[in-house]
Amino acid sequence: MQTNDCSEQNRIELLIAASLAGSDRSPLGIARAVGRLVSGGDLKGADRLPTVRSLAGALGISPTSVAEAWSVLRQSGTIVTDGRRGTFVRVRPAGAGGGRVWKVPVEPGMYAVDLSTGTPDPDLLPSIGSILRTLGAEPIVTSYLDRPVLEELENDLLERWPFTPERLTVVNGALDALDRLVSSLVGMGDRVVVENPTFAPIGDLVEKAGAEVIGVRLDDEGIDVDDLAGALTRRPSLLIVQPRAHNPTGVSMTSERAADLAQLLEDTDTMIIEDDHSGAVAGAELHTLGRYLPHRVVHVHSFSKAYGPDLRLAAVGGAALPIDDLVRRRQLGPSWSSRLLQAILHRLLTDPGVDAVLATAAGAYAERRSRLTRALEKRGIEVGGGSGLNLWLPVYDEQWAQVALASRGIGAAPGSPFQIGEADGPHLRITTARVRDGFDELAEHLADAALAAGGRSLPA
Ligand SMILES: Cc1ncc(COP(=O)(O)O)c(C=O)c1O
Repeated sequence: MQTNDCSEQNRIELLIAASLAGSDRSPLGIARAVGRLVSGGDLKGADRLPTVRSLAGALGISPTSVAEAWSVLRQSGTIVTDGRRGTFVRVRPAGAGGGRVWKVPVEPGMYAVDLSTGTPDPDLLPSIGSILRTLGAEPIVTSYLDRPVLEELENDLLERWPFTPERLTVVNGALDALDRLVSSLVGMGDRVVVENPTFAPIGDLVEKAGAEVIGVRLDDEGIDVDDLAGALTRRPSLLIVQPRAHNPTGVSMTSERAADLAQLLEDTDTMIIEDDHSGAVAGAELHTLGRYLPHRVVHVHSFSKAYGPDLRLAAVGGAALPIDDLVRRRQLGPSWSSRLLQAILHRLLTDPGVDAVLATAAGAYAERRSRLTRALEKRGIEVGGGSGLNLWLPVYDEQWAQVALASRGIGAAPGSPFQIGEADGPHLRITTARVRDGFDELAEHLADAALAAGGRSLPA
């Protein structure tokens, strides 16, 4: 075993020496030589690197140079040092494919009644026609050098923000915010607490960052306090919460629960992201943890569900450090969200006529969800939650339920991609946002599907 390990170390030393041949032998040169071996596939994730002393001897250079090279490689995330076990090539998380989100197929037009999408009803969105006409006649900001967030929009958002944020910015939707915040706040091997179930891309984002996902249960008032207390003993770096209209369950956090959770979190270092993805059409009041922990909460408010997904805008406000980090990192990429779209959003936010449209939309979503919930209850199926665009339907067998519905032209999202493990049992996520009528008939189909079990006998 030891001989094998030695010969493996020798092989890696030879590889590094060969990669370094003829190039600069400074710490940066050594780091680049090792980097080339990793990107070329000669060194693989979890390969153990030689000790500093041994590699220095093999290359005929000082141990300080190797130690500095290792430090450069660590900073770039190429290698990791695991205490006394040694230094290893970092195992890269899987690429974009293979996540939960790909298991929630969204194929427009496949079903006569598509309840799988999680999206708002286009007929309930405010119209932007008249705004476009007036904006078209005004000069449009075109400079790279202008403020990333339009001043008038920023002022309006600050006035509306549910707590006093240390920083505020605007990005391209809640998922853009989550993606950027998770990559700034979460490192390889960290632990991240999410609601179980949770929105499928949230689980994916955390796993792609190389972190362990810890799921905590929800009841009708939000995250279960005891479950969170248990999860916090594992010192997670981040908690991701949907404060209202939770996708998929429809749960909204009560003010009492927010206070209890904040008290638990107070004595920890865990950062908190709040994903208020449904905003003005959530159908429930917002109770934010930011009110209690403004230095640790980053609150994300999406405008997609209320004003239109194609606005692609969300505001991010709260703790300074992660938001500063997000803004700085974004300067190396798109830098800002289109100010033209920001101007449209600002007009939508400040038009009282639009407020009335949103109130109608929120009422319609609440009514659609509650009528379907009641029709299911009549058939003996209880679904929890009371807000939002979706409901979480318990079924006997997820796949059979989907097949049973598909055979009647109804599409539904499978529940498993939303779950962390299997604690919650099989479910389907049903989007109620676009169901306008036929609630009883639909509930009948859903109830049949919930009990569908193929050739197996049904539970007693
Ligand atoms: C929980 C949750 N977060 C984020 C999003 C995406 O929001 P956005 O369109 O702002 O990216 C959704 C969309 O359904 C969602 O349900």
